[in-house]
Amino acid sequence: MLDACQRNINYLRISVTDRCNLRCVYCMPAEGVNHIPHEEILTIEEMETLVQAAAGVGIRKVRLTGGEPLVRKGVVKLIRSVADVETIDDIAITTNGMLLEQLGPQLREAGLRRVNISLDTLNHRRFKEITRVGRLQDVKNGIETALKLGLHPVKLNAVVVRGVNDDEIIDLAKLAVDYPLHMRFIELMPIGQSDSWVKSGFVSAQEVSTAVEAGLGKLQPVNKPTGAGPASYYRIGNAPGTIGFITAISNHFCTACNRLRLTATGSIRPCLYSERELDIKTPLRSGASLLELSRQFVKAAKVKPNRHNMAGGWKDKTKLMSQIGG
Ligand code: GTP
Ligand code: 5AD
Ligand code: SF4
Repeated sequence: MLDACQRNINYLRISVTDRCNLRCVYCMPAEGVNHIPHEEILTIEEMETLVQAAAGVGIRKVRLTGGEPLVRKGVVKLIRSVADVETIDDIAITTNGMLLEQLGPQLREAGLRRVNISLDTLNHRRFKEITRVGRLQDVKNGIETALKLGLHPVKLNAVVVRGVNDDEIIDLAKLAVDYPLHMRFIELMPIGQSDSWVKSGFVSAQEVSTAVEAGLGKLQPVNKPTGAGPASYYRIGNAPGTIGFITAISNHFCTACNRLRLTATGSIRPCLYSERELDIKTPLRSGASLLELSRQFVKAAKVKPNRHNMAGGWKDKTKLMSQIGG
């Protein structure tokens, strides 16, 4: 489906839960988030119906996000039914990797093709500081599992924050030299919890790429590995992996934006950075037909803003990154 700016909208990011087994400092407050009552969250069956409705108007790529998608009961079943929709040719998840060793084989068998895993640090103590509760070894095992299961391309996401992990840029980038991993550096966005962090913590992709080149050698632009997202990719020499940059702030990619988001509470969110959402749960729960639900996706595409307004700061005070899914 086309939006008002003639962008082809073919990618749906579904936040399958607002819950998470980590508490990353840039994403959540220390005390965690008040969980949304169970009955307000879409059931797995409701999500399956909405995927069909979205596929009916041109959604071909589906990514499950969270919170942490792998803490949601029924996530394997959901992957299986998305994989059964013939016109959907890309199914992926964005995960913190903590449960991937355990669930990877079932997810693969159900039809999951590939994963993006968050990895901000290679230092065990620091990992605990950033995530407040996590164990780096679990994520490392998750990454190994993804490689073993052939969930390629295995992409890693690091949000670079000054004074937190900017001294690890080269060590992280080296993962793409040593392994067939696609290491992406993400510019910190002023969303929810990190709105107030950006002033002191922001590190531009340009600064990261200069550091990588100084430490590891020239970055040669390469074609994107399979994916539908906004990263641009580079390779060092004949490295098995690539290094990517997500320049949400320094060079926004909104003109090429191809996505809608579905929140766990059943709203379509046309833009990550706009609080505007369209309720699809009410029609769904009042027995709307697939066609009527499809129309709701088209309506959401029509009101998708032409670009984000991050310079204006985070207006959606009721939402955190973990409730939108990135
Ligand atoms: P593929 O390219 O398909 O692998 O996925 P992706 O890179 O879109 O997915 P992922 O969930 O790994 O996102 C990586 C980062 O890009 C996260 O920090 C997201 O918040 C950010 N991102 C994803 N979509 C958007 C978007 O529409 N706008 C902005 N500004 N950032 C986004
Ligand atoms: N800015 C940029 N990326 C963020 N993520 C979480 N919060 C932010 C932020 N404020 C990333 C996570 C994860 C992805 C879904 O979003 O690290 O990789
Ligand atoms: Fe960390 Fe992602 Fe969980 Fe937020 S949703 S706390 S970024 S793992």
